[in-house]
Amino acid sequence: MSFDYEEAFSRNIGWVTNREQQILKNSTVAIAGMGGVGGAHLLTLARMGVGNFHISDFDIFEVANFNRQAGAFISTVNKPKSETLAKMAKDINPELNITIFEKGIDEDNVDQFLNGVDLYLDGLDFFAVSARRLVFNKCTQAKIPAVTAAPLGMGSAVLNFLPGKMTFEEYFCMEGHDEFEQLLRFLVGLSPAMLQRSYLADKSTVDFIKHKGPSTPMACDICAGIAATQVLKILLDRGKVIYAPKGLHFDAFNNKYVKTWRPGGNKNPIQKVAIYIARKIILHDSNKISTKEFTNPSNSAFIHKIIEAGIRAPSGDNCQPWKFLVINDNELEISIDNKNAKSFFDVNHAATYISIGAVIKNMEIAARHYLSQLNYKIINATSGEFTKATITLTPHFYKHPPLPDFYQSMRARTVNRRPYLPHKLPDSTWKELIEVGSSNTSEIVIYKNKNEIKKWVKAIKSADIIRWSHPEIHNELFDKIRYSQKQAEELRTGLEIDRLGAGPGAKYIMKFLSSWSRMQNLNKIKAPHMLAEQTAFLARASSGLVGVWINEDSPEQWIETGRIIESLWVNAKHLGLEIQPLPVAAYLERKHQLSSNKDIFTESHQTQLTVIKEIINEFRPNPDSATCAMLFRVGKGIPMKGTAIRQSVDKFITSL
Ligand SMILES: Cc1cc2nc3c(=O)[nH]c(=O)nc-3n(C[C@H](O)[C@H](O)[C@H](O)COP(=O)(O)O)c2cc1C
Repeated sequence: MSFDYEEAFSRNIGWVTNREQQILKNSTVAIAGMGGVGGAHLLTLARMGVGNFHISDFDIFEVANFNRQAGAFISTVNKPKSETLAKMAKDINPELNITIFEKGIDEDNVDQFLNGVDLYLDGLDFFAVSARRLVFNKCTQAKIPAVTAAPLGMGSAVLNFLPGKMTFEEYFCMEGHDEFEQLLRFLVGLSPAMLQRSYLADKSTVDFIKHKGPSTPMACDICAGIAATQVLKILLDRGKVIYAPKGLHFDAFNNKYVKTWRPGGNKNPIQKVAIYIARKIILHDSNKISTKEFTNPSNSAFIHKIIEAGIRAPSGDNCQPWKFLVINDNELEISIDNKNAKSFFDVNHAATYISIGAVIKNMEIAARHYLSQLNYKIINATSGEFTKATITLTPHFYKHPPLPDFYQSMRARTVNRRPYLPHKLPDSTWKELIEVGSSNTSEIVIYKNKNEIKKWVKAIKSADIIRWSHPEIHNELFDKIRYSQKQAEELRTGLEIDRLGAGPGAKYIMKFLSSWSRMQNLNKIKAPHMLAEQTAFLARASSGLVGVWINEDSPEQWIETGRIIESLWVNAKHLGLEIQPLPVAAYLERKHQLSSNKDIFTESHQTQLTVIKEIINEFRPNPDSATCAMLFRVGKGIPMKGTAIRQSVDKFITSL
């Protein structure tokens, strides 16, 4: 079907003239946030015929978004929000020009985000206060009108900030205050009338400190309707536009519409009193709620969130070898799911322990984000075998999450198997990366000079030659490959072909290589050497390598090292670095060293293993005892979209 702009938006004509419709067509609107309000804003303005957008969101859709977010469907769970909404808007107007800022907005890209924009429309999460200030302040500097419509209960409060009039900062007076106070000022400034407060049915669902609150789809739709009207009036210079310190608040539940006016914004004495009262109520309520949450056994939402963070941890070939037992709302246990933990490389469960450590680290990050503290204890059987880790969560009344808050980086962490720029990273970046810390039991070492990288590349290549020519490893690998999105979504473990970084032909190449008898024939013409060259190339196409070494070979220490490995990985994300584990050489060497049956490796494998052993011995920081627990390649590159698929949280939870 062919698309015709004039016909598609002909029913707007009457409320706008043909000339005005053309103005809208040529306008550019920036919308940060593609969640509840941002998504609805984009679709409403697309239907109004606005022709150009800059949109941003770093998040992906999850089931908890279904009640209100325009792009949240069964088919879009785990999909990036900005890309999904761009697709939906283009389904309304295929001629749209949409520039996507898929990593969200920060200092580095805000100028680009606002470049050439006629108006900014705020769709950021209520709690994203620093990003919001950044964008509004840049709008003030660039003289771009900015509109914010907040979903409150079953209504919306709207404020416009116009060039030359009162600014966002003048109105909200946030400068110099901590995050908690900034959020408080935002709330009270947005909603001086507080119309929604009277009908909140369950107070315990609001937790300002834990960044939690209920929402309705009606509020998002009302926001989009009111905000799009503001956009239309500002872009077309029509009708009376009210602007800060004046605002409007419409509440559909209370049948109320209030025009608010607070000269001086939050400096106004009425606002000062309102902020004082709100602060008291919020601090009082959050104390009460947190205590209640941790003692009421039927309230499992919080522990669910903690487990959901845990299962975002990495695991070898995405095998997800974990089980959780929820004891009560502040206690759970993690143990190994043996049916998922079988791997050639998982020597004495070391890879599984690393993965369990990573789960604990993720939970720790989430707990801190939700203002709780996590303690863990490893329980071993009398034989010294790991049995389980017990996790205890305690509410910790920080005023706001301690900084830096790694929560978003933890959620976005993933493997990037593409080539990176082989550029040098500044020493300060390396230092910052490994700041997360060596401990008594493990040591983090950076390898960034040419000679070191060259040596490691040799070991990596030898390991890969073994990997491609070993029947057991071959079977295991191809068992884990998911050749289509559909297969990946059905099985929800293993490696999605598109995430292997092998380019568009990967599916066919991997299918071709999946037959072991074919691989045996290819072995005769040294195909494994050629295939191994790919991993060697990737190791070279990086800024450097990072090794994590462990001194003591016990479950506790491997788990502790797993925590450190995950901290390093999340920190890399936080610093905008890409990362891929390349531990195969180290794990093969350990397997060889600890296996009583040396026949698992052929003679030609043994030759490669001698090369690996020599190199690892050379790098070993502690000649007597250190084992290489992980090797990463690190660099700047094009980030991966989303993360690898996981089973749903419920699948991991077992009952007593
Ligand atoms: C102990 C361990 C070893 C791993 N080894 C490799 C590896 O050799 N190559 C690789 O690309 N990824 C490796 N990974 C990463 C996993 O494949 C990855 O975590 C998993 O597929 C889930 O993907 P995500 O981390 O992107 O969510 C390893 C992860 C762990 C925990």
